[in-house]
Amino acid sequence: MSAMARCWFIAASSREVGARPIAREILGRPMVLFRGVSGEVVALADRCPHRGVPLSLGTVERGAIVCRYHGWRFDARGACVDVPCAGPDDGPPRARVAAYPTRELGDTIYVCVDGNPAGEPTRWPLEEHPGAASCQAVVHFPAGLEPVLHNFFDPGHPGFVHPQAVQRPDPEKHKGSLSRAHIEETPTGLRVEYSRPYARQLPRPRRGRPSLFVLSLRALMAAGHIPPAKKHRYWEELVFPSTIRAHHHFSDERQFIQSFVCTPENEKSTRVTMRFEARVGPTSPLLALLLRRRTLAVIDQDVAIVKSQAEALARYGDEGLMAATADGPNAWLTRALRRFESGEWGRSELGSKDIEFWM
Ligand code: FES
Ligand SMILES: [Fe+2]
Repeated sequence: MSAMARCWFIAASSREVGARPIAREILGRPMVLFRGVSGEVVALADRCPHRGVPLSLGTVERGAIVCRYHGWRFDARGACVDVPCAGPDDGPPRARVAAYPTRELGDTIYVCVDGNPAGEPTRWPLEEHPGAASCQAVVHFPAGLEPVLHNFFDPGHPGFVHPQAVQRPDPEKHKGSLSRAHIEETPTGLRVEYSRPYARQLPRPRRGRPSLFVLSLRALMAAGHIPPAKKHRYWEELVFPSTIRAHHHFSDERQFIQSFVCTPENEKSTRVTMRFEARVGPTSPLLALLLRRRTLAVIDQDVAIVKSQAEALARYGDEGLMAATADGPNAWLTRALRRFESGEWGRSELGSKDIEFWM
């Protein structure tokens, strides 16, 4: 099993798993989620061992799942406990389906496809902080995990893919818009801290009509809930195996963090749980909602470009692709994922690098 298979991935939110079974897929394994007798979350392979019908089409009765086709019943460990049309001389049913380890932490359900998970799931960064508020949204990318992680970790695209939110680099005005990035490897992944002006352009486009998000940020700054923009620090993180986080940091007490936690469904589909956490005083819930709104206003543009990229790469391959200086974080991301997957991460010294590029 690869290192990825032993990781925890988000399968659903607590709310989604109730009286009815739901279907999910992680790393190419279709699974059904439901609640067992004491309300615990159960994840079983979504294929009835009788004639292969998805168990997720069935019903949950007293903590067991009953197949829709002929009513075979499976308990929380995946053991078949009833075959309705068995004969009088048949012994106890022998069929079983694979059961996957699950965790329900806060309002999030995690599943590991290996029976021997590595560690515990990574929690939300501000989950335990008093006064922090959060909200979330889910988006599907029709592409494998890596291009999606690259999209979230990519400083070069926002001005082109999201021109209404971020101003694109102007070749005539290169002077004064040199951005710096400090890339460093960490025990849990990568951290890239951007200097201004890249840091500044995220909450505040340099030209054009300010968005509701920017106007709200200014109002929050004016009211003293967020320190002025010059105190703003911005960094992005890769957290193994599949999370990208964007940190907007004003002080240890005031920050907001966007997490993009990717669940690799299969080679052509990635489910992303986006969490928006804010810790800025009484207006935290408002800021979390604004962050969500701002991201949902542009995320379809990311989905569309990553979809086109996946289609083209499937047709023409990736031979001969080139990189620019601003692709530094992406190159480090590729290398980090390879080393994580092969179990090499942490065995050698952690590296770092500074790059400069025009924004
Ligand atoms: S296919 Fe499931 S009970 Fe027959
Ligand atoms: Fe984007």
